[in-house]
Amino acid sequence: MIMTGQDPRLAARATLDRLWAPGCRFLGTETAILAGAMSWVSERHLVSAISNAGGFGVIACGAMTPERLEEEIVATQGLTDRNFGVNLITMHPELDRLVDVCVAHKVGHVVLAGGVPSGATIKRVRDGGARAIGFAPALALGKRLVKLGIEALVIEGSEAGGHVGPVSLNVLAQEILPHIHDVPVFVAGGLARGDAVLGYLEQGAAGAQLGTLFAASTESIAHEAFKKAFVRANARDAVTSSQLDERFPVIPVRGLSNRGTRRFMAHQAETLQRFQNGEVSREDAQLEIEHFWAGALRRAVIEGDVEEGSVMAGQSVGMVKAVRPVAEILHDLVEQAVDALVAREARTGHPADREITAG
Ligand SMILES: Cc1cc2nc3c(=O)[nH]c(=O)nc-3n(C[C@H](O)[C@H](O)[C@H](O)COP(=O)(O)O)c2cc1C
Repeated sequence: MIMTGQDPRLAARATLDRLWAPGCRFLGTETAILAGAMSWVSERHLVSAISNAGGFGVIACGAMTPERLEEEIVATQGLTDRNFGVNLITMHPELDRLVDVCVAHKVGHVVLAGGVPSGATIKRVRDGGARAIGFAPALALGKRLVKLGIEALVIEGSEAGGHVGPVSLNVLAQEILPHIHDVPVFVAGGLARGDAVLGYLEQGAAGAQLGTLFAASTESIAHEAFKKAFVRANARDAVTSSQLDERFPVIPVRGLSNRGTRRFMAHQAETLQRFQNGEVSREDAQLEIEHFWAGALRRAVIEGDVEEGSVMAGQSVGMVKAVRPVAEILHDLVEQAVDALVAREARTGHPADREITAG
């Protein structure tokens, strides 16, 4: 039966809830918004704040030892009784022990990042009772991960902050969303508004993962100078690190351009020159280039050195206008999606959500 006269905002909110229901069900949350793990940033305070506000926080394990991760999980559980996840880097030398720590502490969701996880790792997560989430940088890889037992995918476009692939979310979404239906797919990269999230939900996404917006939140432990750099920056300031010579590959990382990024170019040129002069081997030259950024994210996030450190940020940084509490950020994302649905109804004359089946 068609009901008319319903409050358009309530109807729009019901539509939104239906659109992201698979994501909410999978995460066990009120909103299908994940805060992507961010090394040094995604620790107990930010993670618990996001989960407490109805989103899904994810601890960034990064290079932590199993003991250090255990401490962080227990501390986070002390701050929230809601679901949160842990992001593990697949090339961590103690990956199995890290999975065991997550499982022993009943972490519900493990995100396997930094490469394609093995079937054995996915099985270890699932056998322990946790849900396994992976990243799909292309459709073929997404399908392979689903076959290996991954229970949800994140597709992250090159607009995102941190280590990125070459393809934008706009293209990845078209390539992947119409073809993967067996598991929920969360979109990431460059998202800062609820209406944009809504667009991807309508394309078939189950939810969205955001990083940059939360890195600059009140609850983020990032240094004030780091957050101020976010508020000041425009989208075009968040650039990917460039590779000078194809013989020395550089994994692209998106962050704010600063003295550090300029020095990185000079460092590559200098190392290349020394390699060409026969002063350094190819292997050593590659290592010198890779080591340039060692410790640089910590320097920016914790010490506030935003000139020499690595200020990882997505292109969405241009939409960070102030440092705001996590709950406010999440609330705005929901309201913007609802506004977009209401506005569409007004534009098209088609009710966003009036079809209510009476029992
Ligand atoms: C400061 C920073 C650090 C990050 N560190 C990690 C990380 O350690 N592991 C990871 O899987 N992703 C990392 N990311 C990516 C985020 O988890 C997330 O996918 C991304 O920020 C989403 O795009 P957005 O920044 O445009 O919102 C990082 C992003 C930022 C901004």
